[in-house]
Amino acid sequence: MRKLRVAILISGRGSNMQALIGAAQAAGYPAEIVLVISNRPDAAGLALAEKAGVPTRIVDHKAYPSREEFDAALEEALVAARPDVVAFAGFMRILTTPFIERLRGKAVNIHPSLLPLYKGLKPQQQALDAGATESGCTVHWVTPGVDEGPIIAQARVPVLPGDTADTLAARILTEEHKLYPRAIAMIARGEASFPD
Ligand code: GAR
Repeated sequence: MRKLRVAILISGRGSNMQALIGAAQAAGYPAEIVLVISNRPDAAGLALAEKAGVPTRIVDHKAYPSREEFDAALEEALVAARPDVVAFAGFMRILTTPFIERLRGKAVNIHPSLLPLYKGLKPQQQALDAGATESGCTVHWVTPGVDEGPIIAQARVPVLPGDTADTLAARILTEEHKLYPRAIAMIARGEASFPD
């Protein structure tokens, strides 16, 4: 069976990217990672991808005078890799609506909360501030509203007494590393698709 071609967008550490690369190294996994793109030249994840033998590209947002021009360069880099799916993995740039519309049904994101709760920045701190007793992570289709697209899969973790944003983030991250490969496999097997 043909494997799903996945391009990954990162901005930093790249631990979710690494989890996807690791999953795709298993023979029976239904997806392959064809490209990693970072909008930051100093993203630590770039070296991890290179070490794993995955092609990398840098599309530095600071090199483009406008969001439209950055998006055009990103789109050109993506198209060349012919991905079936574009996986945002700690990708911290807001893209223009027309570009996101062109990615409709093709782009997915992971967010460290149980969406629709705690969208946007610092979701772990948001959970603590709200007095939540559980939180988690969500893989969802990307649509123009930030962290708003249809949900593909979620995993839950408890919020424990004494948690800080860092301890909660670490507990959630462990689940992210399992959830993202599972969600991509669901898409590859046709078990998840963008709703009509
Ligand atoms: C992850 O926790 C991811 O869910 C989050 O950033 C972290 C990236 O870590 N993404 C967002 O908050 C997007 N809204 P990583 O670079 O080690 O994968």
